[in-house]
Amino acid sequence: MASKKFKKNLLCIGAGYVGGPTMAMIAHKCPQYKVTVVDVSNEKIAAWQTDNLPIYEPGLLELVKSCRGKNLFFSTDVDKGIKESEIIFISVNTPTKTFGEGAGKSADLQYWEKTARDILRASDSDKIIVERSTLPVKTAIAMERILSLNEKGLNFEVVSNPEFLAEGTAIKDLEKPDRVLIGSKETESGIKARNKIVNIYANWIPRTHLITSNQMSSELSKLVANSFLAQRISSINSISALCEKVDADVNEVANAIGKDKRIGDKFLNASVGFGGSCFKKDILNLVYLCETFGLYEVAAYWENIVKINDYQTSRFVQNINKAMFNTITNKRIAIFGYAFKANTSDTRETAALYVTRKLMTERAHVVISDPKAIKNAKKDLKEYGNDIEYQEDPYKAAKGAHAVAIVTEWDMYKTLDYEKIYRSMEKPAFIFDGRNILDHEKLFKIGYEVHPIGRPPLVHFNEG
Ligand code: NAD
Ligand code: UGA
Repeated sequence: MASKKFKKNLLCIGAGYVGGPTMAMIAHKCPQYKVTVVDVSNEKIAAWQTDNLPIYEPGLLELVKSCRGKNLFFSTDVDKGIKESEIIFISVNTPTKTFGEGAGKSADLQYWEKTARDILRASDSDKIIVERSTLPVKTAIAMERILSLNEKGLNFEVVSNPEFLAEGTAIKDLEKPDRVLIGSKETESGIKARNKIVNIYANWIPRTHLITSNQMSSELSKLVANSFLAQRISSINSISALCEKVDADVNEVANAIGKDKRIGDKFLNASVGFGGSCFKKDILNLVYLCETFGLYEVAAYWENIVKINDYQTSRFVQNINKAMFNTITNKRIAIFGYAFKANTSDTRETAALYVTRKLMTERAHVVISDPKAIKNAKKDLKEYGNDIEYQEDPYKAAKGAHAVAIVTEWDMYKTLDYEKIYRSMEKPAFIFDGRNILDHEKLFKIGYEVHPIGRPPLVHFNEG
């Protein structure tokens, strides 16, 4: 099936945050394979063929350019891609269902299901299907059953290979992952398929980092990994609320507990709340799974992580309102950072969206600043039209503002000229550091009223 030039043809269905970078890395590391990425979105595929990629990720453009047109191709012809490939990766979106049974918790599998139908229709040879999207446990088995019903006598093996990359560090994570997990049926044909996938990654990842399991363990591990990571953030955020009451410093607490090797120091940065397309979705998916099996106490335990996250974002806005004399109506508030984390243009489930909405409910005059996410911010907040101002330049955003709220931890915000910003702001000038990234003492000396997360505020007068 592969042309003489290439040893194998690989296809990826879904050219998003996972599909694009992952396949670019495989193409880069494996020039012997022809890698095609297909998507139903003409706009996205067109953008992947330019230097204006549909997503921003440090190092991605260079990576894509190193192999695009050589062994990496982007196309909207899904059927042709399926016909030509022996291994098909699927990384379509699996958002939380918004309607019907399981609404608000379970995964919406309509995009996934469509790929199964496309594969059934277009295939005329045996294939290995690689599940890259994050899916409920047993989806691989269900898909294998559907595909086995084909009338052409074809064999399909479905392998689970969840992605663990984080946005903003995707290229680094793909090049040197902590582990790659590959789950298959433990039958002869299942293990043979799994080994073929292991061999792809073995082109650049040490074998010790390639771990294998059955399909269900692999699928569940993905949901559990995200839930554990989010749990750490909600744990430290819950403690930040207590720190504010007892004049403790959450950074000092995180540092003290993180030094214990059994706890570790990662994912202990208190914040305005975690965002991103996956944490909330995957926890709710886990919650739904537990509820389905009648494990209500287990479900409630995990659901609280999401509740604490919502609480943390609400608390941030309540603190703004309280510190600013219980009224922010018509006050100009500059939001520094709209992306859900630094180094990405992605704004899915960003805490900034919830902060903005709450500020708008209080009729504040919101100005949003971000180096990469303004375009997405405008889409997310289009219901507010011209009532929200957008200023890429943080100095312009802060000019005449009563308050600056740091919502995303972009490095650039650490090195701004805060004296200049102070001079241009209304007084008293407030800073709400939702990421604890600034030098609070220094800001206080400049004259700001400084309100961090989980640390005593530095104020020149007591707001009572
Ligand atoms: P995305 O929305 O960026 O990309 C998905 C793409 O699939 C879209 O471009 C969409 O047009 C396309 N698509 C949908 N149905 C299709 C079909 N039938 N045929 C062809 N294309 C189709 O999503 P994403 O962020 O890349 O996430 C994909 C999956 O990977 C999700 O399950 C997510 O949970 C998981 N995941 C995401 C990340 C991340 O950092 N974003 C990390 C790990 C895992
Ligand atoms: C997360 C996981 O880290 C990846 O392993 C996983 O593959 C991915 O989800 C996914 O399945 O989509 P991502 O959401 O891209 O990656 O980014 P993270 O670095 O995990 O950050 C998530 C959110 O938590 C961000 O809003 C970030 O600012 C916040 N965060 C992170 C904190 O508030 N505090 C921390 O200490 C760490």
